[in-house]
Amino acid sequence: MTGTDLALATSLLQSGHLVAIPTETVYGLAANALDATAVSKIYNAKQRPSFNPLIIHIASADEVVKYVTEFSPLAQQLAKAFWPGSLTIVMPKNDTVPDLVTAGLPNVALRVPKHPITLQLLSLLNFPLAAPSANISNTVSPTTAKRVAQSLGDSASYILDGGKCDVGVESTIVSVLENQVTLLREGGISKEQIEAAIGVHVRTQADEKITAPGQLKKHYATQKPLFLVDDMQDALRNHQTKKVSVLLFETMETTENQIPYLLSSDYNLSEIANNLFEMMHLADEDNSDFILAERCISEGIGRAINDRLLRASVR
Ligand code: TXA
Ligand code: MG
Repeated sequence: MTGTDLALATSLLQSGHLVAIPTETVYGLAANALDATAVSKIYNAKQRPSFNPLIIHIASADEVVKYVTEFSPLAQQLAKAFWPGSLTIVMPKNDTVPDLVTAGLPNVALRVPKHPITLQLLSLLNFPLAAPSANISNTVSPTTAKRVAQSLGDSASYILDGGKCDVGVESTIVSVLENQVTLLREGGISKEQIEAAIGVHVRTQADEKITAPGQLKKHYATQKPLFLVDDMQDALRNHQTKKVSVLLFETMETTENQIPYLLSSDYNLSEIANNLFEMMHLADEDNSDFILAERCISEGIGRAINDRLLRASVR
């Protein structure tokens, strides 16, 4: 069932049920993060491997100390700069957080989402919400309530409808451990923005071997093959006879056999991110044989867009 009934969502969560919630990035499939039985339902519903930990959503930065052994000055600075918003911070967990949430890791991922309905929901609850993206594992993440229902069916007791997600790609994940900030997943907030806000170098996985365990190579997959090309004009010339869906970042001429999806008419990165998953869903549903997408420029949120497209294209 989908709707906007906050009282219903609250009571379902209080009694250990799953509720899909809107955030500014993508929809999440939420449960009481402090109730291991409720959390186990998330893993089942998503068919998610138990080694892939969940993000805990909290109402404000004031709540962090309840779940970590250390809220370092650096992590506080990040929270102050970006919360509510699309930054997830990984910190050393304390015993309040069930091991199931962190898949046995000694660290927990926390964020304050920037969505009025979910912030209101969090303020009505006396526990935080564990929530991965509200889709079956390894499929394209949902940015509308309708896509949640399509992917999860009835396994969410309720889908709280908050409209289309603003950002459209998942949060950026950084760990703040031993006074080092390390980028674990590209997302809604760019590395450049983070470095500018805290004046500290953000390490990347090229510098170091820590990864978010959920960064499986294949992810965000469409049913149809998706091919990532370096030059769309070129690719369109070479594929004039096959029926093909094309994800375009700017206006381009296509032929009869080419089904265009205009993510942005003028290469606007936020717009591209905002439309990415929904257009991938649509391209997956049309009558083409495969999907073509162009590699995005590697700056700001463009890197998160590339990351998602690359994973979608791995077969
Ligand atoms: O924008 C988002 O982050 C959305 C919304 C719903 O908040 N959530 C989301 O969750 O994308 P999910 O589960 O699809 O991706 C969470 C990622 C996974 O790659 C997981 O491995 C990583 O976060 N993660 C969670 N806890 C972690 C931890 N303790 N250490 C390292 N990585 C962690
Ligand atoms: Mg996900």
